[in-house]
Amino acid sequence: MTQLTGQERATYVQNMFTRIAKRYDLMNRLMTGGQDIRWRKQVIQLARLKDNASLLDLGTGTGDLAREAVLQFPQAKVTAADFTLEMMRVGQKISPLNFSAADALRLPFNDSSFDAVISGFLMRNLIDLQKGIEEQFRVLIEGGRIVILDTTRPKKNILSPFIWLHMHFIIPALGGLLTGVSEAYRYLPETTEGFVTAEDMAKRMTSTGFKKVNFKQLMFGTIAIHWGEK
Ligand SMILES: C[S@@+](CC[C@H](N)C(=O)[O-])C[C@H]1O[C@@H](n2cnc3c(N)ncnc32)[C@H](O)[C@@H]1O
Repeated sequence: MTQLTGQERATYVQNMFTRIAKRYDLMNRLMTGGQDIRWRKQVIQLARLKDNASLLDLGTGTGDLAREAVLQFPQAKVTAADFTLEMMRVGQKISPLNFSAADALRLPFNDSSFDAVISGFLMRNLIDLQKGIEEQFRVLIEGGRIVILDTTRPKKNILSPFIWLHMHFIIPALGGLLTGVSEAYRYLPETTEGFVTAEDMAKRMTSTGFKKVNFKQLMFGTIAIHWGEK
């Protein structure tokens, strides 16, 4: 997969999520030992929504983050957007949300449309990371918040061999068993290791114009939550 670029890579990503959609949520719970539920709560808290705020959950998948937002802020206007229809179709069966078909690199929303834009495990998939950050900046109001949850390139430490084993063997084996698409779970370590570091992501956000950019790393440095303000 790493050899694919541009539209070919985007199509590969879309097909892959179409194939794993039904088991995607279960696999998330297993891979993270249920920790992703806690991270999602943190993302919504960091979005600092006010009553009636408008929120975009980009790359929503089956809508887990959007659902958490609705739970914490029932008055908020939550849009759950993704370019893989099958992921949203599975999500709609879990519980209906305001799903919207959208490419993160060409958002079908006007400038300054949202009080907050959040994403979970989206950014690593984009064929143009910079454009993805810029699009989120564009659709945010002045003072609006961005929160990004994703895997991040782990630094070398004493746990590195165990992390490597987990990512390269346990996750693909489990993914293969549960979804029948182990390739999708080889894609995960590949893209994580090829992704920017948490520090680089923060720099990109700042150079795009975001202020008060900060981040925290979780799960032995393999996960990061970034946030900032337009
Ligand atoms: C790993 S899943 C994350 C789903 C969900 N946000 C979560 O937290 O579990 C990544 C999602 O990003 C979507 N995605 C990838 N590239 C995209 C793009 N260019 N535009 C919109 N969605 C995209 C995929 O279709 C997939 O549903």
